[in-house]
Amino acid sequence: MVVLKVGFNALLPTTETTHFNDSSGIIINGDSLIELKKYKSNSIDLLLTDPPYNISFNHNLALKGRKEITLKQGDYDVFESEDAFYNFTEQWFKETVRILKPGAWLYIFFSKERSGYFTDPRNGLFKKYGVEYKDIITWAKTNPLPHIPVQRTKYVSATEFIIVGAKKGVGIDTKIKNYLGHTEMYNYYITGSGSTYKETEHTNEKPVELLRWILKASTNTGDKVIDPFFGSGSTGMACKALGRFYIGIEINKNFYDMSVKRLKKYKTINNFLETE
Ligand SMILES: C[S@@+](CC[C@H](N)C(=O)[O-])C[C@H]1O[C@@H](n2cnc3c(N)ncnc32)[C@H](O)[C@@H]1O
Repeated sequence: MVVLKVGFNALLPTTETTHFNDSSGIIINGDSLIELKKYKSNSIDLLLTDPPYNISFNHNLALKGRKEITLKQGDYDVFESEDAFYNFTEQWFKETVRILKPGAWLYIFFSKERSGYFTDPRNGLFKKYGVEYKDIITWAKTNPLPHIPVQRTKYVSATEFIIVGAKKGVGIDTKIKNYLGHTEMYNYYITGSGSTYKETEHTNEKPVELLRWILKASTNTGDKVIDPFFGSGSTGMACKALGRFYIGIEINKNFYDMSVKRLKKYKTINNFLETE
């Protein structure tokens, strides 16, 4: 069994912010736009996050003779304008890049339609904040939501996208930490969506096995992983299974409580971390 010493006390919030911590990670109930500013520059090994996408509709779909279908992802996903959403995205991204170590990788679930926010080679956020574009990973869902008749005007949405980059630095090598087997390095992952794995009530819970695959390739045991939009804590679950130290920030108290409960009951598989 690997026993590690992680200086995580230095990562605990300095103010009275509600938080949970044990030897495997920290969860903070707060606003990332405020909390990220409290972290030291160049101190975190990886970003793995699933932020608001601005794809939510603020209404339900009511069809005659049928049960209403919710199109809301959650209030957190509704912005008053495209500019407001862009500004929000830029703010959290800028702070996150600052606290990542040079060479650290970034994985961001995002809508395909707006991937250019990050990847546009002329003026995207990667270029602006010194991040090298690596890839866009496709998550192919084996059980996407079927269309109802009025939606049959386009393809069924059976994929999600993860934008991948690495923080540049002078003389820094941005190669991936653990190149896995050839087929494991294909830039897609196939697994079910919510109804296959769901453990919580969060509408956007992501598959832990997909997150574990990402962490295996791009982190080592004991690395510090930040997720500023923690939701139900799926990133923490993947970290805990692999002995990576998670730092989660979640603004919504219900989701924060949900993630704490989930992580508390989950046992590590191979490793445990010892506090200093
Ligand atoms: C798409 S969900 C993440 C779901 C997560 N990947 C999971 O598997 O459960 C985004 C989360 O970000 C949270 N959020 C939105 N704005 C935030 C902010 N400013 N600071 C911290 N969390 C925020 C929302 O409450 C929501 O739970």
